[in-house]
Amino acid sequence: MTLWHGRFSSEPSALLWDYTESLSFDRTLALDDIVGSKAHLAGLEKVGILTATEAATLYDALIVIESEFVGGSFSFSDRDEDIHTAIERRITEIAGDVGAKLHTGRSRNDQVATDLRLFTRRELTIVAERILDLQIVLAELADDAKDAYLPGYTHLQKAQPVLFGHHLLAHGWALSRDFDRIIATLGRMDVSPLGAGALGGSTLPIDPSYTAAVLNFAGPFENSLDAVSDRDFVAEALFDLSLIGVHLSRIGEEIVLWSTEEFGFVRLDDSYSTGSSMLPQKKNPDIAELARGKAGRLIGHLSGFLATLKGLPLSYNRDLQEDKEPLFDSLIQVGRALLAVNGMLSTALFDFARMKKAADSPYLCAIDLAEFLVKKGIPFRKAHSIVGGLVRDSLERHVPLEELVSAHPSLGDEAAVLLLPGESVKRRITRGGSGTEAVALQRSIFSERLTIDAKRLDELSHLNMREL
Ligand code: ARG
Repeated sequence: MTLWHGRFSSEPSALLWDYTESLSFDRTLALDDIVGSKAHLAGLEKVGILTATEAATLYDALIVIESEFVGGSFSFSDRDEDIHTAIERRITEIAGDVGAKLHTGRSRNDQVATDLRLFTRRELTIVAERILDLQIVLAELADDAKDAYLPGYTHLQKAQPVLFGHHLLAHGWALSRDFDRIIATLGRMDVSPLGAGALGGSTLPIDPSYTAAVLNFAGPFENSLDAVSDRDFVAEALFDLSLIGVHLSRIGEEIVLWSTEEFGFVRLDDSYSTGSSMLPQKKNPDIAELARGKAGRLIGHLSGFLATLKGLPLSYNRDLQEDKEPLFDSLIQVGRALLAVNGMLSTALFDFARMKKAADSPYLCAIDLAEFLVKKGIPFRKAHSIVGGLVRDSLERHVPLEELVSAHPSLGDEAAVLLLPGESVKRRITRGGSGTEAVALQRSIFSERLTIDAKRLDELSHLNMREL
């Protein structure tokens, strides 16, 4: 029998059942559903809809069900449409008639919206924690790199030498924004929908503020229609996760390139590499490739879900059931990717000598020559063209650039020094640039930021609730 059988004269068809059920995936919400129900029954008791004895009986039944889920012994019936109906059925089995009172003043519409918020906020804090862990790995690698440098690229063409620490921290800052976005999403979604009922509230004196407080939400909804139909937090979470995925993809792409023989900037640890089934010599960077590949799927989940939302009239529509699979999958994928990339990077061997060799070309210091001329009062455009001419000359006539620079009346030996290996990064002075001192300062600001972010996350530990 379904929860809604009263209105119907025939049983649902098997085809309807197979197509509309959500139990196969929303069982993930079991423990959050139990937490939501405990809060709901506390609310019913507070306003006198349930007696203390009835509430205690229901609470005890929920505890039993919780332990069945935790111990893996909960048994589903093939008549369970979703996790909410499965748990409600079991409550009635355990608690008897009083079980039928739990759903008073509540609909699955506010129930599922509450469950999903409880689930999402907890899972997002786990993602945020893993972002911080990866940032720590990047910071440690930056420390290990000391004054190692590599070519910085634009258009994937060598542009200027940059400190390797600077390059690593660039990824670290992107992850900082990801962290920040998650905290902002958690702030915006800190609203309890419980008490909105099916869409319009209730004639019973239930108190949404009370249940919001019990569930550690900042407050209750202001509009019951919005409460049951709002899935902005899912869309936002999918965006946040997609962008994390995109950032990991960009790291992945660099590792794929750098681990080639052609670049040779990194050797991945055997335990984080895979082999070829046919070619015995191969060692492949599969984690890096999947970090790149799976970003496509994350973006798909985001755009698919936005398309689901775009045509929906207020308030709850069954379409909203489509929020779960993309969200669950994106959380799983990003959670795993953050761990795998962390492991891959923290065990990788970076080859500073190869990086240096690739960066030690005098042509990469052409801008330093132009700025040398600027310091002597030559307008930048003119300086650019003088140095451009020398580079062309050097390439066409196969004369070392240093020689041409030494011989040039406005440049000379003083400028030729700028072309020596390692000079360029040392001399760059702008804040946030790749000069030695600027990177040291950046590194300490990055550490301060990590400390602040770890504290911000700590302050959100109340969102981690699994029990009530
Ligand atoms: N499985 C449903 C979902 O995930 C639960 C809510 C069902 N509500 C309803 N009015 N049929 O959205």
